[in-house]
Amino acid sequence: MNDFDFYAQGAQALCDRGVKELPHAYIQPEHERPSPASLVRGKHMPVIDLSRFHGDGRDQAMEELRFACESWGFFHLINHGFPESCMKAMLEVGRQFFELPAEVKMQFFQKKGTGRRTRYGLSFNTEDNRVSDWRDFLSQPCHPLSDEIISTWPHVPVHYREIAKEYAKNVRALALRLLALLSESLGLRESFLDEAFKGHHQLMVINHYPPCPQPDLTLGVTGHTDPYGFTIVQHDDVPGLEVMKDGSWYAVKSIPNAFVINIGDQMEILSNGRYKSIEHRAVVNSEKTRFSIVSFYGPSHDAIIAPAGELIRQKPDQSADYGEILFEDYLREFFSRGLDSKFYINSVKIEK
Ligand code: OGA
Ligand code: NI
Repeated sequence: MNDFDFYAQGAQALCDRGVKELPHAYIQPEHERPSPASLVRGKHMPVIDLSRFHGDGRDQAMEELRFACESWGFFHLINHGFPESCMKAMLEVGRQFFELPAEVKMQFFQKKGTGRRTRYGLSFNTEDNRVSDWRDFLSQPCHPLSDEIISTWPHVPVHYREIAKEYAKNVRALALRLLALLSESLGLRESFLDEAFKGHHQLMVINHYPPCPQPDLTLGVTGHTDPYGFTIVQHDDVPGLEVMKDGSWYAVKSIPNAFVINIGDQMEILSNGRYKSIEHRAVVNSEKTRFSIVSFYGPSHDAIIAPAGELIRQKPDQSADYGEILFEDYLREFFSRGLDSKFYINSVKIEK
């Protein structure tokens, strides 16, 4: 199949052609399909106010952060200091990118990726046996940043690179603050996670979910955990993200100008399981296009990740619950496994 045949079977091309019935490749097995009837809408995940870490409310804020990471693995972040104009601008150029003609976007097309290069990816995937996601996406490395890396980013729409560079710098500044706070919330020295992540790696993925003719049969993103350290997510105002908690899917509401932060697999390992990398997914709808800008922040590929010694020693039996692993190996396995990678973290858990 040539690249344009791939494009023709992607979510956006199907949507543009006004297809009424989902191709077989997109149809999820019944147990994976969206479940509006059992979806929990009333109770919402914690909201962390970053400005409270400056003043009197600091201890309380730290306690809330710890609770959010232990019990939900997810929280909304407000008063984060990230310029709202930059959030809006990134969403706008992201939107414009997906409106470009197929032949422009396809210059960035890659069937597979490991997060090291810029990649336009289609939801349609014939290479592994998993069901296709109803989305297309643009993924680009954002740290370490060099002119060479930036030259691989889209050069259109105009200002794309400029805005994405600004966005990447702001995400990194926020990520460094979160790293220090997460370290402290675990009772570790402030620089612990910064050092554990070694050279650090940051990756931005813009997800584009076109309207879908049969949203009850498919998913925008199949249930998964994120393989990096933690994730900083910007949503537009169309709902779709769902988080698994206590055996039920919770719909995440959108708070204007807030970010959603979630713990990824490497934070679960480093915290020896105290902080949880939680399964989540995205559902789609038949009316509105939805976008999310997802920044993965984590270790450099050459970092060796293992539970923090201090946290192991605090346990009554002083045992590590996860083995150590080279982050590059983790990612390679994670991305090569298709559906089985959903809980790849279980393979580094130490059976007791
Ligand atoms: C992801 C992801 C959810 C969303 O890209 O890893 O979980 O709401 N996306 O787009
Ligand atoms: Ni995710």
